[in-house]
Amino acid sequence: MVLQGVVAVDGPSGTGKSTTARGLAMRLGARYLDTGAMYRAATLAVMRAGITLDATRTDAEGHDDAVAVATTADLQMSTDPAEPRVRLAGEDVGAEIRGADVTRNVSAVSAFAKVREHLVAEQRRIVAETVADGAGIVVEGRDIGTVVEPDAPLKIYLVASDHVRAGRRSAEDTSAGRAADTSTTGADLARRDRLDSSRAASPLRAADDAVEVDTSVLDVDGVLDRLEDLAADRGMLI
Ligand code: DC
Repeated sequence: MVLQGVVAVDGPSGTGKSTTARGLAMRLGARYLDTGAMYRAATLAVMRAGITLDATRTDAEGHDDAVAVATTADLQMSTDPAEPRVRLAGEDVGAEIRGADVTRNVSAVSAFAKVREHLVAEQRRIVAETVADGAGIVVEGRDIGTVVEPDAPLKIYLVASDHVRAGRRSAEDTSAGRAADTSTTGADLARRDRLDSSRAASPLRAADDAVEVDTSVLDVDGVLDRLEDLAADRGMLI
């Protein structure tokens, strides 16, 4: 069974979006696009340009320089779920974009309306090319079902308890060799949720027709089984 069409996977950090979206793409022979990685790579480009951001602000006033760098950064995304690479000016930045510095600044950069416009257009282009090639694609982010692909036949909104989310992010940090403790991670998640949900440009929210799936009560295979059933119900598995 192979996926046709677009599956949108949205939700806050730490709800298992990447594991779920990538796992679903692997299971169903589809492509995979991590849009968070695009906002992270654009943020890294801004930081490498030596621009200092106020991570507590979500308006672009006085940040024309950051907007200019983020909207002209040379990003390349590979959509192979077995090897989802992110390149900035040809360099593989997959590890660096998950570090604490980028994580601290990414909410500010992803709130700039012009940056969103630019990356949303790029995301739509990647999805359209993939679908035109006859492949299905699983796209993860915060605004895929609401803004990027509002006509996607299957929209998933992942949720999980705060405790489970903070535990997952700490475990990810530890296994990637980064310092982590659950209470600091929990506070950082709460701060990013607040910024991501309250910004004026495409705030994080579930699309009206999204199916909510709680990943605190299911293991990975349980979540993937549920999503596969939903895709089958919609006639997306050929
Ligand atoms: O999923 P992630 O943690 O890698 O995402 C990084 C940040 O990018 C997150 O704080 C919100 C932002 N983001 C966004 O605004 N819109 C998206 N479609 C994806 C991510």
